[in-house]
Amino acid sequence: MKENFNKSNHKSIKLQDIASHAKEYGFVFPSSDIYDGLQSVYDYGPYGIALKRNIQKLWWDSMIKIHPNIVGLDSAILMNPKTWVASGHIDGFNDLMVDNKDSKKRYRIDALIEFFAEKLIANDQKQRGKDIIVNMNSLLKKYDLAGLKLLLEKENITCETSKTCNWTEVRAFNLMLKTKLGSTDNNSEILYLRPETAQGIFVNFLNVQKSAKMKVPFGVAQIGKAFRNEIVARQFIFRMREFEQMEMQYFVTPGSEDRWFEFWKKSRMLWYNLLGIPSRKLQFHNHEQLAHYASAAVDIEYEFPFGFREIEGIHSRTDFDLSSHEELSKKKMHYFDPALNKNYIPYVVETSAGCDRVFLMVLCNAFKKIEDENGKKRTILGFSPTISPIKIAVLPLLKKDGLPEKARNIYKALYLDFDTVYEENQSIGKRYTKQDLIGTPYCICVDHTTLENDSVTVRFRDSTKQKRMSVEEARKLVAEETSSKNILSKLSAD
Ligand code: GAP
Repeated sequence: MKENFNKSNHKSIKLQDIASHAKEYGFVFPSSDIYDGLQSVYDYGPYGIALKRNIQKLWWDSMIKIHPNIVGLDSAILMNPKTWVASGHIDGFNDLMVDNKDSKKRYRIDALIEFFAEKLIANDQKQRGKDIIVNMNSLLKKYDLAGLKLLLEKENITCETSKTCNWTEVRAFNLMLKTKLGSTDNNSEILYLRPETAQGIFVNFLNVQKSAKMKVPFGVAQIGKAFRNEIVARQFIFRMREFEQMEMQYFVTPGSEDRWFEFWKKSRMLWYNLLGIPSRKLQFHNHEQLAHYASAAVDIEYEFPFGFREIEGIHSRTDFDLSSHEELSKKKMHYFDPALNKNYIPYVVETSAGCDRVFLMVLCNAFKKIEDENGKKRTILGFSPTISPIKIAVLPLLKKDGLPEKARNIYKALYLDFDTVYEENQSIGKRYTKQDLIGTPYCICVDHTTLENDSVTVRFRDSTKQKRMSVEEARKLVAEETSSKNILSKLSAD
């Protein structure tokens, strides 16, 4: 059996193929599809939501179950707008953009220049491409907007639609989405859809610490929606306007933040490895330009079909957020540390993963075109069994001779313990193929021997090999191989 693609030819898997597969097999649909969709907003279908929930559950357990000092929170999307003043998002949460005067198309300046430079790098002008990126980074660091426009003109970077280099000045564009609260336009208040879940944790710092009697160091974890008015909105679900974050804020004693930053860096990378993502497809990327709140930051990047891109950020946020909220709200954000016998505002190390990006990574990593020894080609989604949307498909070999009845009884004995489906229509081969395409790791086939001695054949997705065993043995095998304990125990041992 050979895989048709690996690291060296990963670019042969097109993101478009994965997006088409995701739509056809019920993972991800464009939002409001019948009205031609809404740019960069997507819906999760039956298998997509099952996969996403499994990823979220594993993340949640990796935070809360194995760390007695991490607790959960579910804060609201709408928050008092002062939150965003204190957090710096009103003033500082901007992308730099530029408009083409002829096509009226708007671009994020860094994406426009990077796209141009990457094309040069791919087309034998490596040094020129690299120089452009270095130049751009230094201009961004100095916030030299005029210099960025000059760079566009000097390199003749044009709009893909108008093909002209007729650009407006470079301007800052706030990424927060606004909404209004109130019954009339006159008395309504402008609110923002939260651009990150983290602030819900910061404003609840005292509520959580006091009610759950937490002692520093402790963490608060949250999974929830976030919204950003992204200018460059493309690459399927990689960059969305409505997305989900899985964030954990770890409150630590000032001075210990570097140690915890290293701890979480290592722990989060291990999590991706345990999810079945090979190390060669993952890398750390240290931030040169730090966000307004950070003293150190690193991204975990995955090699998507369009290159290495961020899936998670780990940030050392100092006491920036708690201090800003203390200043604006006039509520003390101090913690009395009994061990040190002193009051302080804790420092924060944050792990912030994009749930949809982890989902896309898992999908890209699982999407395989396999050829067996006889040259027969198959497409499979080779998910780790722990997160597969469906764990077992129970399939009667034929739709007669009492096989469906027997198979339905086996299904009933399994479905409360595992995500299980029962299917009896179409040939057994076609049903196996369908399960491969949605990533079901185990198919249980019920045949005439089952009627005689209660044994079934278990067919393994990745190898197509089949093994006869009793139903109880099959249950044990699936329980062992799909258990999240395999991952959580290694994570907690680290
Ligand atoms: N609280 C820190 C924070 O929000 P971030 O680096 O802006 O940091 C964290 O975002 C993660 O959220 C990113 O690593 C990415 O996975 C995800 N993310 C950010 N913007 C996104 C978007 N437009 N679409 C999908 N995921 C996004």
